[in-house]
Amino acid sequence: MKVIKSATELSRALIQPIAFVPTMGALHVGHQSLIKRAREVSENVIVSVYVNPLQFENQEDLNSYPSSPEIDEELAAAAGATILWRPNQSELYPNGITKISAGGVGAIYEGNRAGHFDGVLTVVHALFSNIKPTWAIFGEKDLQQLFLIRKMASEFFPAIKVLSGETFRESSGLALSSRNSRLSAENKNYATIVFRSLQAAQSQPAIAEMKREMLATLRSEPSFTLDYAEIIDDTTFDLAVEESRNKRAIIAGWINGIRLIDNMAMQNIRSASKVAAI
Ligand code: PAF
Repeated sequence: MKVIKSATELSRALIQPIAFVPTMGALHVGHQSLIKRAREVSENVIVSVYVNPLQFENQEDLNSYPSSPEIDEELAAAAGATILWRPNQSELYPNGITKISAGGVGAIYEGNRAGHFDGVLTVVHALFSNIKPTWAIFGEKDLQQLFLIRKMASEFFPAIKVLSGETFRESSGLALSSRNSRLSAENKNYATIVFRSLQAAQSQPAIAEMKREMLATLRSEPSFTLDYAEIIDDTTFDLAVEESRNKRAIIAGWINGIRLIDNMAMQNIRSASKVAAI
């Protein structure tokens, strides 16, 4: 695997067709599964590592974002990446930053963090413009991000196929996230309430019961502070109605100031999410 820092070097190293996995580093097994998925569709797999300041609401959150450059290189190479690119801001936006708007869906749920999704779409647009991949792979854990990137790509990069990777979970059910490295063992234990609440919703036949069980389970854990818990139609991000064929429970909140998000399809079958061997 080649590690590249400059966009000029990158442009010389690009071999199409490319499968691309954008990341903010602090890689874990979940990212590796996305890289492996990329490797299934192409021999040329580029992973970018760029902590995007535009998507953070405040400086403190940006400063405390975990970073593990050496481990990133090891994990990316082991999963089959051929290039790891660490862009810098001036190369990403040679003509200055033109913000991409995430629209209405960008302002709800995770979009309550002002400018978050505009920031995500702006950087992904810049990354896509540099790499021009044939495939780009994103995790289902960030469901709203995946939805908005698909929409942005269909408008600006219709040739790019946006693929999704299943959520990886610890054996406790906790969804893997770079931010988990900031959870103590005790807090990790409390954090499993999110998965248990999604399962509680999934065991119910109708939306009102799904929501009731999900909220009751979440409220049973005093360490968890709720941001939102809803049943949505994941093809539109509107609230689901009984007829919706793609109902998903989405949850966000905090344990000890650390943000957790997760989601689960409500097909009354056990979640297909993978359990990581960790
Ligand atoms: O999901 C992430 O890690 C980031 O939001 C992304 C897509 C790399 C954009 O910065």
